[in-house]
Amino acid sequence: MKQVLIELEAKRETARQGGGTRRIEAQHAKGKLTARERVDLLLDEGSFEEFDMFVEHRATDFGMAEQKVPGDGVVTGWGTINGRTVFVFSKDFTVFGGSLSSAHAQKILKVQRQAIKMGAPIIGLFDAGGARIQEGVDSLAGYADIFLENTLASGVIPQIAVIMGPCAGGDVYSPAIMDFIFMVKDTSYMYVTGPDVVKTVTHEDVSHEDLGGYRVHAMKSGVADGAFENDLEAMTQVRRLVDFLPTSNRERPPVRVSFDDAEREEASLDTLVPANPNKPYDMKELISKVVDEADFFEISPDFAKNIICGFARMDGQPVGVVANQPQVLAGVLDIDASRKAARFVRFCDAFEIPLVTFVDVPGFMPGTRQEQGGLIRHGAKLLFAYAEATVPKITIITRKAYGGAYDVMSSKHIRGDLNYAWPTAEIAVMGSKGAVEIIFRNQTEEELAAREAEYKDRFANPFVAASRGYIDDVIMPHGTRRRIVRGLRSLKGKVLQNPWKKHDNIPL
Ligand code: HXC
Repeated sequence: MKQVLIELEAKRETARQGGGTRRIEAQHAKGKLTARERVDLLLDEGSFEEFDMFVEHRATDFGMAEQKVPGDGVVTGWGTINGRTVFVFSKDFTVFGGSLSSAHAQKILKVQRQAIKMGAPIIGLFDAGGARIQEGVDSLAGYADIFLENTLASGVIPQIAVIMGPCAGGDVYSPAIMDFIFMVKDTSYMYVTGPDVVKTVTHEDVSHEDLGGYRVHAMKSGVADGAFENDLEAMTQVRRLVDFLPTSNRERPPVRVSFDDAEREEASLDTLVPANPNKPYDMKELISKVVDEADFFEISPDFAKNIICGFARMDGQPVGVVANQPQVLAGVLDIDASRKAARFVRFCDAFEIPLVTFVDVPGFMPGTRQEQGGLIRHGAKLLFAYAEATVPKITIITRKAYGGAYDVMSSKHIRGDLNYAWPTAEIAVMGSKGAVEIIFRNQTEEELAAREAEYKDRFANPFVAASRGYIDDVIMPHGTRRRIVRGLRSLKGKVLQNPWKKHDNIPL
């Protein structure tokens, strides 16, 4: 018996070595951890239960029969994050560059299916060169099977991808279907085809960084939802994110005991909005002063900074926060901001996370670039996302709520449950200067100035909307936290269903 135990341990040790010491050292030299080191950091200590450690590929072409590594380039299993179960797969770049064989795909499919069945989040750590070239179509089949499970899992369990090395082909399309993608700065890249293929096809010389580094995806394309300094920070932040999320759409988001007084008032908010309506202020200051312990997990902080999205807690209850940022492009809604926020709102709705929206928006961005880029369709995404959302929705207008953007930003008209305005709110079709220049086209400068003052007096306040019932109350800025907490409590029993349909047709 003892001999069998020794042999088992020896087999395990071989599997743990992955592609061997030389490749592990190369991985470390690049500033990257190994697949197993990452899993250890991600999960609660000692909680990892591994599956399929002894799985090997079955390929024979190109001398592959002689090159077998137990585990075949991916570490899979489950463990816990602060006590709650999550499923994990972690690609091992030291084994055939983490590339996907048929056997490797079967390992990932097993944890995907298990996660859906158990109702637990799945986290994929990607560090891989796509399809195992030696396996041909079997590898493509494996990817398609994974994409299908990713799609079926969407809206059922949270799916989080972390890009932790050069990732190509199938190793970017699977993340693309998942809910969140994070990258690691300077060691991770995402592209459909790498620089070598680009050179062959388009004769373009491009670096890994310029083609698919974090500056491309977390700042320009919006494909990634954030980038972290190194592997350790990435794992720590994913743990933090998971704490905000329910394990599946069958569970409620996890409520924590809050040590932040629900009645806490913030006197400084009374002077947050400057007297001059054209002067910016930092909406993040409002968010951090209102939410529990200023704890805010921001999604896509470096992309479309004119809108802020992220998770926070109010009296222990997780909420999704969406807020216009007057500091960037005056908080205008453009294509990128609409896409970013629409996706976030839909995630929250799918997982029953209430939405808190702070509004200071001068409208949609005018101009040929935006129109030619399809602002109409992209802007409609956000409108659609808010309109279809059935989770509790609380909206606070701090200053501008102009035009179509007023409607879009979780207004009463698209089923906002509690819509509040600060006394500084201006709810109107447009800013007063633009408005009088259109309706009083032929008047003198002086007459226009008088008309503008008249328009401002009449519309640049929250009271017209309040008199119609479009705003439920005009509230004191210092009491915002208390009003949101009370509002969320009152909305706990909310029941609202959309008409039956196979699925909707959001303007994609
Ligand atoms: C088999 C692979 C591999 C692959 C890398 N390796 N990619 N083995 N299949 N796809 C192996 C290498 O042979 C090498 O083995 C080890 O992994 C490390 O690779 P290097 O090239 O030395 O590393 P690096 O210079 O860091 O470059 C990493 C890389 C590059 C950028 C990922 O390897 C690369 O471009 N690979 C091919 C990417 C690709 O085009 N994949 C197919 C995509 S199509 P040794 O033994 O030396 O350690 C696809 C289809 C699905 O995925 C699409 C669905 C939509």
